[in-house]
Amino acid sequence: MYKQKEIATNVFYVGVNDRQKALFENLWPLPYGVSYNAYLLIDRETVLVDTVDVCYSDIFLRKIAGALNGRTLDYLVVNHMEPDHSGSIRLLRQQYPGVKIVGNAKTHAMLGGFHGITDGLVEVKEGGTLSTGSRTLSFHMAPMVHWPEVMFTYDAEDKILFSADAFGTYGTLDGGIIDTEMNVERFHEEMIRYYSNIVGKYGGPVQKALQKLSALDIRTICSTHGPVWREHIGRAVSVYDRLSRYEAEPGVVILYGSMYGNTEQMAEAVAASLAENGIRDIIFHNVSKSHASYILKDVFRYRGLIVGSPTYSGQLFPEIESALSKIEVREVKNRLFGCFGSFTWAGVAVKRLAEFAERMKWETVGVPVEQKQSLSAANYAGCLALGQAMAEKIKEQSTN
Ligand code: FEO
Repeated sequence: MYKQKEIATNVFYVGVNDRQKALFENLWPLPYGVSYNAYLLIDRETVLVDTVDVCYSDIFLRKIAGALNGRTLDYLVVNHMEPDHSGSIRLLRQQYPGVKIVGNAKTHAMLGGFHGITDGLVEVKEGGTLSTGSRTLSFHMAPMVHWPEVMFTYDAEDKILFSADAFGTYGTLDGGIIDTEMNVERFHEEMIRYYSNIVGKYGGPVQKALQKLSALDIRTICSTHGPVWREHIGRAVSVYDRLSRYEAEPGVVILYGSMYGNTEQMAEAVAASLAENGIRDIIFHNVSKSHASYILKDVFRYRGLIVGSPTYSGQLFPEIESALSKIEVREVKNRLFGCFGSFTWAGVAVKRLAEFAERMKWETVGVPVEQKQSLSAANYAGCLALGQAMAEKIKEQSTN
């Protein structure tokens, strides 16, 4: 019944949209949903590349049966074992008991652990191949993009790269599957957010994978999330390349917490001074309202980060501490840092923020400002000076 999108001759899209889940990995908001992409190659042998989240296995299996049109499934290639892609493997095996599962040694160890599957496996190593008849698929290891077992599959016939999570993005496929069939602008910010949330810690492995891919002639990228990239391959690769090198745009994120508005007044003064001194991208995040997912996206995107925190129970404001920990885990590099804070009887926050910048090995810009109780004229001037120092440093780096 279901007509499957043919993205190249005898290569079908059989993925699904998840419009139900509120949080990806039960952590990251999905305001526009997410797709779990899988692809079916029909040749002398039939080959499925990846599966989908188990919640969508029923529709997924029906799509595969429709595209197979009475044939059986010979191979499943598993590029990535995270359950958003491997969740349907056990049910797929029940439906097609003879299907041989292609993966590397790490994939197969995880197949045993997650699904108890230990037979009918075909192990491949770096550069290994599988002939499907008229096509030859080759396998290229991409460890830690985003798990250790991740590999890419390349079809030399149509020059298609099946790239697991790489070049993926949040957002469902609303009718079109290939980027030529849609306005891709809505995926741009969501790709940065997806990268920073999910892959952000693994900049080094992403760079290694990109170097490996440069040897392949790639005309189509089939990621496990988001559009099939064809017309906009260059842009997708460039976003992943830039973010994995921690390159940033000349803007400033102001991340602050405030219980009664005193720290917020300092943030306002810093922002006004940034604008006065020529910064046009100033991104405000009240940590009590902004989800960490969006804070991470902007920290990955922009060069400057200025953090303001009240002292709370002798420590940082708890939500600031939580956001900074997520940044630290991702080992974000080469940011310009500024800080300010307020307290009522004992100031600790600014000291903690300085320690954070030291651990991150970031350059601290300007003089930190710490206010006791309400904002004084002297500290208001200090906030203006902090904004000015950051603006000048950003402009200096942008012109170099
Ligand atoms: Fe989309 Fe790392 O799984």
